[in-house]
Amino acid sequence: MAKVPVQFTLNGEEKAEFVESGATLLKALRDKMGDMSVKSGCQQGTCGSCSVLIDGEIRLSCLTLAETCSGTVIETTAGLAESGVLHPLQRAFNEGFATQCGFCTPGMLMAAKALLDRNPQPSREDVVDAIAGNICRCTGYEPIVQAILAASRSNSVNAA
Ligand code: FES
Ligand code: FES
Repeated sequence: MAKVPVQFTLNGEEKAEFVESGATLLKALRDKMGDMSVKSGCQQGTCGSCSVLIDGEIRLSCLTLAETCSGTVIETTAGLAESGVLHPLQRAFNEGFATQCGFCTPGMLMAAKALLDRNPQPSREDVVDAIAGNICRCTGYEPIVQAILAASRSNSVNAA
């Protein structure tokens, strides 16, 4: 299969690679760029585990062609912590027991980050809407909702 060049910024670092034409961003991130924080679940757009931010918007990397991402800025959970300090959302998930098996967690964190970046003080309804595309089989969702609300109340998120 033909290879095509892609270049984008991934968690603040410039990346340039050749990927197979038609390869998904999910595959490019995991197989070419070694970002295993992006989880591969259903691979058909229904679970949300592969969610990343592209130019600040939440997107499903399993439904996004890598070759359409050139020139964009991509964020994944691998880039959330800074200098070894957890992002407030990561801290809130940890402290609020919002993670069990953890498979949904990267997608949940990115959906939550997209929300807080545009709406630092969301209502509970806003939070529920923001994670509506992300399936969790373990937690019953309430600890996740509470963790996102807790992070929104922390000064560090609002100052970030
Ligand atoms: S792996 Fe992309 S939505 Fe499930
Ligand atoms: S913590 Fe297991 S799927 Fe959400």
